[in-house]
Amino acid sequence: MKKLTGEVYYPSEKTLDNARVKNWDELNKFATENNTEFWEKEANELEWFSKWDKVLDDSNKPFYKWFTGAKTNIAYNCLDRHLHTFRKNKVALYWEGEKGDCRVFSYFALHREVSKFANVLKSLGVNKGDRVTFYMGRVPELPIGMLACARIGAVHSVVYGGFSVESLHERLEDSHSKVLVVSDGAFQRGKIVPLKAIADEALQRAASVESVLVIKRTGEAVNMEEGRDFWYQDLVNLPIINAKCPVEEVDSEDPLFLLYTSGTTGKPKAILHTQGGYMVGTYSTFKYVFDVNDEDRYWCAADPGWVTGHSYIVYGPLLNGATSFMYEGAPNYPFPNRWWQMIEKYGITILYTAPTAIRGLMRFGDAWPNRHDLSSLRLLGSVGEPINPEAWKWYHRVIGKNNCPIMDTWWQTETGAFIIAPMPSVPLKPGSGTRPFPGIIMDIVDEEGTPVKANEEGYLVIKNPWPSMMRTIYNDPDQYIQKYWSKYPGMYLTGDSARRDEDGYYWIIGRTDDVLKVSGYRLGTAEIESALVSHHSVAEAAAIGLPHEIKGNAIHTFVILKAGVEKSEELANELKEHVAHEVGKIAKPEDVKFVDILPKTRSGKIMRRVLKARALGQDPGNLSTLEE
Ligand code: WT7
Repeated sequence: MKKLTGEVYYPSEKTLDNARVKNWDELNKFATENNTEFWEKEANELEWFSKWDKVLDDSNKPFYKWFTGAKTNIAYNCLDRHLHTFRKNKVALYWEGEKGDCRVFSYFALHREVSKFANVLKSLGVNKGDRVTFYMGRVPELPIGMLACARIGAVHSVVYGGFSVESLHERLEDSHSKVLVVSDGAFQRGKIVPLKAIADEALQRAASVESVLVIKRTGEAVNMEEGRDFWYQDLVNLPIINAKCPVEEVDSEDPLFLLYTSGTTGKPKAILHTQGGYMVGTYSTFKYVFDVNDEDRYWCAADPGWVTGHSYIVYGPLLNGATSFMYEGAPNYPFPNRWWQMIEKYGITILYTAPTAIRGLMRFGDAWPNRHDLSSLRLLGSVGEPINPEAWKWYHRVIGKNNCPIMDTWWQTETGAFIIAPMPSVPLKPGSGTRPFPGIIMDIVDEEGTPVKANEEGYLVIKNPWPSMMRTIYNDPDQYIQKYWSKYPGMYLTGDSARRDEDGYYWIIGRTDDVLKVSGYRLGTAEIESALVSHHSVAEAAAIGLPHEIKGNAIHTFVILKAGVEKSEELANELKEHVAHEVGKIAKPEDVKFVDILPKTRSGKIMRRVLKARALGQDPGNLSTLEE
């Protein structure tokens, strides 16, 4: 194996022996030189009702299309496809609730549940192309409902259960959802988050929603509006709800889901993914990077409400016929060994989580994981933000017992699937996701679009299309062009800055736009600022991220009060709670500082970098655009 620079972890002989791809360079060479042929080969491992006319249609850039003319269905490929193999009786999903209650679904059982859910949706008038919003905790009905939508060609839009009234309201409106699926509540650290009550508030102003399907989870009393709200469990058990539901033969380019994510404006944008290309991308990346086998028990600890959950709890694993585990609660509830206990109990072989969770658990010390037998693990994964080498090494040594390669996967809601990621046979460097997935061509460029030299920082771009790429921003194709394709024509702008070392390994530095990564969650500074100014005492506000030991970044805010409003500690707390109520707990600011002015450009844009530099005691750099 070629000698690499810096601190390198080479794969063990055992890992190499078992690896599906032993020669990464060879696969990469093939995929790069024959890109459409590579993806076509991957697509041919799945089932299509009829094949494509074209693998890639780039006649209307940047609106790329994949597998055009083909008919397929991703839910059929996730479930039905396995029913005529031994996987029919294989466990598809193990689930454990925060209270320790357990549920298990074979592929056969999951298929049945999905079909019934699909028939319930149909009975509520959901047709192909209609949007269905989900707002719930981590319970099996979430993946089941998503797959039910896919099965009938409806479009799911999952809103993370940690978001609050305004976020849910905006997403219901923007997507014009016909049905909202919500749980009565969600368990969280022994308490109950009243999801239905929050939804009721959001529904007051969401005119498109005709029916609300309520999933019973906590059993707490909720308000049920007659004619609009129905208990899922009541409907699904009606004799007219058949356990068979014909699959909709959709076009490869038919929409599969919308997923809202934060950008530079106050309004989150809906990333649109389609059935065929997304299916090929998640299938192939999951297969190669996690190198999954039928013996594996895979656990992605993310929430299905984020793209990680969409691609690597729901679609990627099921497309591969894998056995997954899903857990409802928090990592350290009731004790910091909750995760380690479940790894032991279920014999988890692959664990995929985020740096913020690793740092959070690391803080409790080695004794908690050391009390458990973690020897079933063979592979670890990381996603969401750069992993600091200290956390990487702890994960590798204490959880992986120096035996498990760590797949640090860089990707985005927009990319649908892994973009920079290793495979088990690839030598690793702590903190780097190694190189782009085979066939994906990336670069790091300067302001003018010229590639920078090795180890220099620049803008991270992607130079060729890939099947699971976003197709557009729903309802806003101009913004799609503007945000991703206009800085450098022909190149996809990721919004991240990065450097590439002499071995071609990529090192992500951070976002270059006004997006913050807080505990791996993506938040726009503008969303926090608009929540603040929606409070009656606030005139102007600015939000910045400052380094935080566990969260990666923490939100710090600066507020100008309206004339006559008194500054006080109570008001600062009220404003923090206000942001949590409007956006969600994850957006609650660390602190609120009252100021008299904010640094602005002459055109009136808040210069957040000046605030940040000041807070960190650094040189604010070029101030030529700062107003007097
Ligand atoms: C942004 C995308 C992709 C699933 C979860 C996040 C950051 C993501 C990594 C990583 C360094 C990472 C980037 C990216 N990011 N993974 N392995 N190393 N940074 O999806 O919410 O759309 O956020 O997350 O900044 O642009 P997302």
